[in-house]
Amino acid sequence: MPTGPVDSYYDLLSLIHEARRPELYVEIGVHKGDSLSFARPETRVVGVDPEPKIEKIPNNCTIVAQTSDDFFANPEALGGELIDLSFADGLHWWEQTLRDVANLEHHTSPDGVILIHDCNPRDEITAERERTTVFWSGDVWKTVVALRRYRPDLSVVTADVAPTGLAIVTGLDPTNEVLFDRYDEIVADIDQLGWADLESRGRGEMLGLVPTDWEALGPIVA
Ligand SMILES: C[S@@+](CC[C@H](N)C(=O)[O-])C[C@H]1O[C@@H](n2cnc3c(N)ncnc32)[C@H](O)[C@@H]1O
Repeated sequence: MPTGPVDSYYDLLSLIHEARRPELYVEIGVHKGDSLSFARPETRVVGVDPEPKIEKIPNNCTIVAQTSDDFFANPEALGGELIDLSFADGLHWWEQTLRDVANLEHHTSPDGVILIHDCNPRDEITAERERTTVFWSGDVWKTVVALRRYRPDLSVVTADVAPTGLAIVTGLDPTNEVLFDRYDEIVADIDQLGWADLESRGRGEMLGLVPTDWEALGPIVA
């Protein structure tokens, strides 16, 4: 495994697949399959996307052409198995990502890992809810704040990898119902946060930013 900084979220994703060698990997939001391609051939992969654009689906991979909410209403493609590793990269609205994380946790092994893309946005305009730029991370960063505030039992950190960070959620409890039971309260609270809060309250603390050295990240995800 490498030493020194991990440059991009793709590099980190690839390293995590290599280190963990998950049996079941789930990706929410697959688009053309670029991030999905880091899954190893021996890993069973379930990808969920209402408009997948993958031209050649690998043999180890099942693509479910549904929204994540519809998929989790009846997640047959999981085959009753627990997820080892997942990557939430679907609709970039924070409360959708929170639902994705809650649903993923519900189906993940306690020693599994959930990754969330785009949690360390670059500037205000690319962090808007409505997309007006080609490069867009949305307000997914608020999912990290919500998890750190309402699920202190979880470990939630954000690796400061390019271009917009990758959050890592561990210490999972598939029986925990807090995110479902308190969903409306959490949305009402966290919705009040805006870009100014991220700037003024200390981004490092709010997002749990951690350095990108594999020596530091490896023990969290492996
Ligand atoms: C940023 S792209 C994913 C990129 C991909 N993970 C990669 O890095 O190669 C976001 C994808 O989320 C999908 N998406 C949008 N709404 C969704 C939803 N409700 N559930 C699941 N996926 C959704 C879009 O169709 C799009 O393909």
